[in-house]
Order: sequence, then structure tokens, then C-alpha cells
Amino acid sequence: MGKKTVIKASPDLRQAAQRKREKIEFVRENLIIPSSLREHAKGRKYFIRTYGCQANVLDSQTIEGILIEIGFAPVDDPFDADVVILNTCAIRENAEDKVFGEIGSLKALKNKNPNSIIAVCGCMTQEPHIVKILKETYRQVDIIFGTHNINRLPTLINESLEKNQRLIEVYSKEGEVIENLPCHREDKYKAFVNIMYGCDKFCTYCIVPYTRGKQRSRKKEDIMKECEELVKQGYQEITLVGQNVNAYAKDLDDGSTFADLLDSVAKLGVPRLRFTTSHPWDFTEEMFKAIANNKNIMPAIHLPLQSGSSDILKKMGRRYSSEEYCALVDRLREIVPNVAITTDIIVGFPNESDEDFEKTLDVVKYVHYDFAFTFIYSPRIGTPASRIEDLTPMSVKKERFKRLVDTLAIDFKAKSDAYIGKTVSVLVDGLSKKDSNILSGYTDTNKLVNFTGNPDHIGKIVNVKIIDATTYYLKGEEVDG
Ligand code: 5AD
Ligand code: SF4
Repeated sequence: MGKKTVIKASPDLRQAAQRKREKIEFVRENLIIPSSLREHAKGRKYFIRTYGCQANVLDSQTIEGILIEIGFAPVDDPFDADVVILNTCAIRENAEDKVFGEIGSLKALKNKNPNSIIAVCGCMTQEPHIVKILKETYRQVDIIFGTHNINRLPTLINESLEKNQRLIEVYSKEGEVIENLPCHREDKYKAFVNIMYGCDKFCTYCIVPYTRGKQRSRKKEDIMKECEELVKQGYQEITLVGQNVNAYAKDLDDGSTFADLLDSVAKLGVPRLRFTTSHPWDFTEEMFKAIANNKNIMPAIHLPLQSGSSDILKKMGRRYSSEEYCALVDRLREIVPNVAITTDIIVGFPNESDEDFEKTLDVVKYVHYDFAFTFIYSPRIGTPASRIEDLTPMSVKKERFKRLVDTLAIDFKAKSDAYIGKTVSVLVDGLSKKDSNILSGYTDTNKLVNFTGNPDHIGKIVNVKIIDATTYYLKGEEVDG
């Protein structure tokens, strides 16, 4: 139990919140893989678990790309692995609790395979108090690294093995844009593509601007090159990903905009193009035009509301009122009449009143969302909102949460029912998780469909007649052309 812990760098929230004006550095990484590590990896396996949002999913694809490049092979069970990576999420307390639970259970891996390496990375490790807990209480963790130094993974694994040390290396910095890292995409039909990293919005409840650094956009030419390659490989769907995609290129000063990027990627001819997440504040008229002019931009927009009370929105630092939000929804529906609108809503921001909450329900009833992710506010250490004394009891928040979920579910079901009898186009993902005689996929509006059809059509876009609907998915049968 006596492994020495070496701290190479520790996170610092104050540093993480800094936003200097200096130009962002673009790094073309040449991955350094020590030859002794390549030797070690022969016949050995890795397991990775990803928590949280698409930013983590994409980071995990990079991490897998790196591990495969070293020579490790993937495995489905963490207890069969020689290297286990947990890529963590810090957005709410319950996300963090799950990770601690999993790290706890991995102690058994050390008994089975004492030479195994357990590494924890992602947003949680960017938080100083979490690193302290991991360092002191979870001795089974060998490597702690962060969101800014994924490229250092081979060196860290090698050093931890050779010196038999625990290593902590987490930087709090604005960050750079690192290109050329490997990427392993499991899915051969649908791809996420990062267009930017970090976030500068500093919504008062949110930890992301601290854990992921300053907004850094990738250059348009690099994004285009990646998308062109995906189209060539036959990908059917590309999703452009960033915390705030409509603010794309505002940090670049080269005349690029998100509307221009969206239009250019659409013109590459990928059958389905999506983007996430849009901040209601940065939606421009040019974006509406790009959406209207390209039929392959899918009619599904994720537009986080967070709260329907303009007072609370102000306290959240969201920079729009509930009226402005509703006007944006109206405009979207004018441009794309069948657009599906989904959202994120937080209940119980500090001192949210009954009236504030009713205003959220009002917006919900106005918009009629196709789907929504709902959360009870979770204080995040270091954020401005966490310093507000909150007088609303948790029991009241839970009651509001239930009312919100029930209200939303009425719309979800009505939206689903409206598909019955219609024929929709579906990109076939594969066999249904619950029934291997059934195929599953998503409509252009991003609705899940389970249907009977031809398994040879996996990876293709087919027509499906909808015959039944539940709150969360549709049921149908494949029909000809
Ligand atoms: N508490 C609850 N929900 C949060 N989100 C972000 N920070 C918090 C928090 N502290 C939600 C927001 C965001 C989504 C990804 O997570 O709704 O859009
Ligand atoms: Fe968090 Fe707001 Fe940035 Fe979204 S826009 S990541 S909610 S700070």
C-alpha cells in the first residue's frame, strides 16, 4: 500500500477562471509514446467509462485512439483490464457520486491484478477538493490527469509503471487547441466533431468554464478537413459539438462565423447534419438562413431554457429574458415549421420563488417541448451561485421538479402521438437493446424509433411507418422507398 504520490501539477479554481486576452495557441501534436510502454502494452487491455456530455465523449474517443496507438486492446469488463480510465463529469453532485461509487468498486481490481493502472480524468479532476479526496481516500487511483493534458497520457502511464508511483498532473489554464491527436470512433455512421473547446459564458451555477477553460475555436480548415474525411468514409450523420456552438470563432478574429461553418459543412453533402449546444443569446439571423437553405441540417434544435423567470435568468447570467427566448422559438418555427425543440431546465436555483417557478411552467406550456433534460440545482464549489444563501427547502424543490416533469411529459406524449400514421425517415443504428428482432434508429427530428425491418439496412436511412407511440419513443415498420 506504500506507493509514493508525486504531484506534478494541481488544479486551482482561481487560475481556471482567468480569461486573458492573449491569442490562443494552436498545437499540432506529435504524440510521444515511450518504446518501453509499447512493449508493455502487448497483449494487455484497457477499459474506459465515460460520464457526462459530448465533450467527454469526444475526449474519450481521443483517449481510446491514444491507447490503441500505444498497443492496448479494448475490453468490455473493467475487471479484465490492465488500464482503466474513468472520464468524469462535475456538472452536478449526483454525477460525482456515481464516479466515487465506481472508483470504490474498482478496489477489487487491484486485488485481482495488482499491476493494473487506474486513471481518473475529466471535469471532476479539475476541481481541487476532488483531487484532495482522490489523493487521500482513494489510494487505488494511480493517475489523476485533467482536461488539458490528455496528450500526456502515454508518458504518465509509463512513468507510473516504471517508478511504481501515483501521479497527479492537472493544469488549470485557459487551454490551447491541440490538433492531430488520434481519434477512435466506435460508431461508423454517426460522428461527433468538436468545433470548439471551453466556455466563456460563466453562467453563475455552472462549473464548466472552470473545468474546461477559455473558449477556443478550432480553425475552419481543420474542421472541414475532418468532416470531408468522414463524408468520404460514408458517415451518414455529423454533429458539430461545442458548449456554445453559436459563439464559434468569436475568439478567432479571422472572419469565420458559426453560420458560415454550418453552411460549408452542410455543402459537403453529409446526409444529416446536427449541432449542439446552442445558447439562445448568440443565435443570429445568418444561422436561421443557413438552417433554412440546407435541407440536410436536421430540424431538431436543442435550446437550453434553464428558467422561465427573467429574474432568475438574470441571476443565472444567461443574458436573455423569457420573452426573448419565446421570440426565438417563434422565429425558429417560422423558418423550420416541423422543428423539434428540446431543452435543459434547472429547478430550484437559490431562492427561486413559487412565482419564478410558475413562469418556467408558463414557458414550458408555450413552447411545447419535444424533450427536456430536467435538473434540481446542485451547488458547485467555486461558482458565484454556490455562495448565495439558499432559503428554499429541498422538499419544495422536489415538489416543483415533479410538477415540471409531469407537465413536460404531457407534451412529450402529444408530440409522439402526432407521428402515428406518418412515414418518417430513420437512420438505422442497429438492433434494439431490449429486443434483438427489432431495429432502432432516430428520425430527422431526433426521435427514437423501434421498428421491424431489414437488418441489412443498419447504417442506412430508411422509411418507417409509425404505428404506435409512447412518451419517449415511437414504434413502426419499415416501408419501401
Ligand atoms: N445544477 C443543476 N444543473 C446544472 N446544469 C449545469 N450546471 C448545473 C448545476 N449546478 C445543467 C444545465 C446545463 C446542463 C448541461 O446541465 O441545465 O444546460
Ligand atoms: Fe455552463 Fe452556461 Fe457555459 Fe453552458 S453556457 S457550459 S451552462 S457556463
